Parts: sequence; C-alpha cells; structure tokens
Amino acid sequence: MARAATDDSDLPTTTGQAMSITKLGIVGSGIMGSGIAEVAAKSGIDVVLRSRKQETADAMVRSLEKSLAKQVERGRLEESAAKEIAGRVTATADLQSLDDADLVIESVVEDLAVKKELFQRLDGIVKADGILATNTSTLPVVELAVATRRPDQVVGIHFFNPAPMMSLVEVIAPLTASDATVVAAKRFATDCGKDVVEVKDRAGFIVNALLFPYLNNAVRMLEAGTASRDDIDTAMKGGCNFPMGPLALLDLVGLDTSLSILDALYDEFRDPNYAALPLLRRMVAAGQLGRKSGAGFYDYKK
Ligand SMILES: NC(=O)c1ccc[n+]([C@@H]2O[C@H](COP(=O)([O-])OP(=O)(O)OC[C@H]3O[C@@H](n4cnc5c(N)ncnc54)[C@H](O)[C@@H]3O)[C@@H](O)[C@H]2O)c1
Repeated sequence: MARAATDDSDLPTTTGQAMSITKLGIVGSGIMGSGIAEVAAKSGIDVVLRSRKQETADAMVRSLEKSLAKQVERGRLEESAAKEIAGRVTATADLQSLDDADLVIESVVEDLAVKKELFQRLDGIVKADGILATNTSTLPVVELAVATRRPDQVVGIHFFNPAPMMSLVEVIAPLTASDATVVAAKRFATDCGKDVVEVKDRAGFIVNALLFPYLNNAVRMLEAGTASRDDIDTAMKGGCNFPMGPLALLDLVGLDTSLSILDALYDEFRDPNYAALPLLRRMVAAGQLGRKSGAGFYDYKK
C-alpha cells in the first residue's frame, strides 16, 4: 500500500516483510556509481555495474581493483578479501543483464528526462518484484516512480561522495512508495554499513537543501571579490572546523552536478539562495567541472 501524503509516522519497526537484497544492479559508472559498487560488494552483495560503453564499465572494475590493492598494501584489507570483493562485481554495457537484480540503483547524470527514460526501460527489464532506486541529489523521485508501472516499488537511495567513506544514506520515500519498499531500502543501506535517515520527497532532501545555499554563497563571495578562493576555504576550515572549504567541496561534487542541484532546488523553492551564480554557470559551460575534468576552482592537472 502506498503511504499517505500526511503520514509522518515512523516506519514499521518490523523488517520481516522487507526484501533482502543479494543482487544489486547499478546504472552509471561515474563518481557515485563506482563508489556504490565498492560499498555494496564489500558488504557481500553481488553487483552488476552497467555503463553505456563496455570499456568504461571494465575501467571502473579495474579502478576498483586498484583501490582494493591499495587497501591491502596499507594493511586495511586481507588479500583474499580483496579478491572476493572484486569477484562480486561484474561489468556490462547491456541493461538486460539487470533483469534478475533485487534492486537497481541508477546514478546517471542529474537530468530528469534522462532518468525518466531510464526508469521506463528498467521497468520493462527488471523482475516484477525488483525495486528501482535513484541516487538523485535533488530531483522529484515521484516523477521517476510514475514513469513506471511499479510506482510503489520506486524509492530514493542517496549516497554521499565518496560513497565508501561517507557514513550517511538518505532514503527518500515518495508518496507512491509502499512501506515494504522503504523498509527494504533502509535495510539495504544499513546492510551496507551506513547510517540511514528517512526524508520526504522534497528537492535537496535534508543535506543538499541545507548545504547548497552555503556553497552557492561561497561562489557569490568569490565573485564579489570579498575574499580570495584560498581565504574563503581556509576560513571555513579553520573557523567552522569543516574538513574542506566550500570551493574545494564544489570541485569534489562536480560543478555540473552542483549546477543541476541548484537549478532543481531553485525550481522547487524559488529561494534566491538557490539561484546559481553566473560564475558557476560559466565554468560549467567552459568544461571546468572540478576534479573529474582536471580543473574547477582548483587545478588538478599539476
Ligand atoms: N557527485 C556527487 O557528489 C553526488 C553525490 C550524491 C549523489 N549524486 C548523484 O549521483 C548521480 C550521478 O552523479 P555523479 O557525480 O556520479 O556524476 P558523473 O558525472 O561522475 O557520472 C554520470 C554518469 O552518467 C552517465 N551519463 C551521462 N549522460 C547519460 C545519458 N544520457 N544516459 C545514461 N547515462 C548517462 C555518464 O556516462 C556517467 O557514467 C546524479 O544523480 C547526482 O546528482 C552525486
């Protein structure tokens, strides 16, 4: 049964009905898709990682193997465990390979039209009782749910970047989701070793709705010439004990993804704090996307 719009009650405490996830499909092999693959494989879940190109999917598995090898070198992981973890991840370019997944998480570009089309395709492929989830940072999960014939089995499972290191997962329950789906999503995230919070389907959920006005205002301050890039970042690290400054964090998130997040937040709330600054928009237009492109507010090519 779908949840009532006004239902503020806690989730049912029994998880007996919740589907247990033993096979996970991931669509999108960018920063987040590959991070989620590592987290799930480390938790004993079989993962099929799908990218549009087989070479990209294979490259993601190779980089996972490298990251595991480093962890072995540093004494954080046994060699046999690293082999077992890598053995759980298969790379494919064929969406059809996700047909028997218990759960598919999409983590493709933050674009509603692209994600909707993908959900429609997944709906025709994934087994009838499979759950479809999105790792979107801001987009309305309900719009993806109603693009399928299983809106009760669609949920948001929002990991943070880098997924293997960040302890939080937000589970987003759209109006259409059944309790069983939400419980299964929470159980999956808990099984991945994450702390889980549940949040309603509102742009930005908890973390990005609170974080992005701050990040956006850091760009405003830079653009106004109030302080330099380094001084803005140094100030927020030293003055608030944040592990990184706002401009470095924007580079980590990706400036294109950050712009999409701000645009979605502004569309929903019309709050000027969410209105993306021209500097951010121009940097994205110039292909300066942050770490992933080698340059953003900082230069990563050196
Ligand atoms: N970057 C972050 O900090 C972060 C954190 C949490 C959630 N997210 C969310 O995760 C999702 C992916 O973000 P990312 O940072 O991994 O992005 P990314 O740019 O690293 O990767 C995006 C992936 O989408 C694929 N893609 C691009 N266009 C596509 C299309 N038309 N059809 C299918 N696939 C396409 C790309 O090939 C790539 O594999 C987004 O929804 C984003 O909001 C990002």
